[in-house]
Amino acid sequence: MSADRGNTNATGEAAVTGGVAAEGGATTAAADAAAPAGKAAAEPRILLRATRVTRQFGGLVAVREIDFDIPEGAIVSLIGPNGAGKTTFFNVLAGVTEPTAGRVDFVGRRMIARPVRAWLEPVIWLLPSVIVGLIAAGLDTVERSGRLASLAAIVALLVLIAMLLMASIRSDTYRRLLDRMGIFRSARPNDMVRAGLGRTFQNIRLFQNMTASENVLVGMHTRLRSTPLDALLSTPRQRAEEARSRVRASELLALVGLEGRDDTVARNLPYGDQRRLELARAIASEPSLLLLDEPTAGMNPRETADLTALIARLRRDLGLTILLIEHDMRVVMGISDRVTVLDHGERIAEGTPDEVRRDPRVIEAYLGAPAE
Ligand SMILES: Nc1ncnc2c1ncn2[C@@H]1O[C@H](COP(=O)(O)OP(=O)(O)OP(=O)(O)O)[C@@H](O)[C@H]1O
Ligand SMILES: [Mg+2]
Repeated sequence: MSADRGNTNATGEAAVTGGVAAEGGATTAAADAAAPAGKAAAEPRILLRATRVTRQFGGLVAVREIDFDIPEGAIVSLIGPNGAGKTTFFNVLAGVTEPTAGRVDFVGRRMIARPVRAWLEPVIWLLPSVIVGLIAAGLDTVERSGRLASLAAIVALLVLIAMLLMASIRSDTYRRLLDRMGIFRSARPNDMVRAGLGRTFQNIRLFQNMTASENVLVGMHTRLRSTPLDALLSTPRQRAEEARSRVRASELLALVGLEGRDDTVARNLPYGDQRRLELARAIASEPSLLLLDEPTAGMNPRETADLTALIARLRRDLGLTILLIEHDMRVVMGISDRVTVLDHGERIAEGTPDEVRRDPRVIEAYLGAPAE
């Protein structure tokens, strides 16, 4: 709830008007860079491409046929009034919400789309154990004692369990196997994280009873090499990795302005610091693309300005590409290369911050009255 403070239409309206009036025609350096300065400039690689993404909830079309590109290295913002469909669209990109239609490509790979030959997947799970079962039956007819057959039955069962485990973990080997068989299923959130997507949430979702450092360690999980067996036996490899990870967690906490707070339990951190901790946890998964859903919601102007500077620094220092949902227009206009505006699930404008803030449809969407 508290994360939604400052997230009302009234605030949004005030913010957009303030942005339009207060910032005048100022264009940020970032926006300049994104402007079509010359055709000679090399086009940046598209890191994420959404194609005609639609998401319906019953009769409500929360997101309607959105085309959206995120160029590598850019800070791209998604704005729009409450209920415009921003978070829903975000969740589709992150693999949390399945789209009703459309497709998402990330780092050049189809990640989210309609399933292809999904019915074939259970065959992959069952086939190895069926083969072992058939061998067992064959052996049973040759060797009458039945001992080999029962051994084979146990092996078949273990093979089935292993296949199901592989399917739920979706290891790279398993994914390659699916590819080879022409099977496609949309990526899940963990697949997207492994592919390089990090995110924060509109409402803070930290592990409240864990320390700041432990929260960041959870974020690192996908990049760790130690196996559960290493952890169980506390092998030197696991201990060395854990020590390295704790140092790295400390560095990340310092990077987001939480130096020395490693051992503070998350719920004891002030609100603004909890938002920073979410950011540190997201970066810990070493993403190439960071999705931030209203990172400054509920912050005071000072905290907001600090966090805006931090986001710009993250792009510069870590080479991150950032997609930002924001209500505060000073944040959006200050750091975005490009802004996309949603209203009632539809894209109503897209362009540089300057272009967007002058767009009559945008002003109308926020103020609820036709622009003169
Ligand atoms: N799980 C759901 N089930 C049904 N309707 C939903 C669901 N999630 C979102 N909606 C609806 O979809 C629409 C878009 O919601 P969404 O949260 O994406 O908007 P938003 O632009 O993020 O708004 P805000 O600025 O308030 O965060 C809203 O009308 C919302 O009520
Ligand atoms: Mg939202």
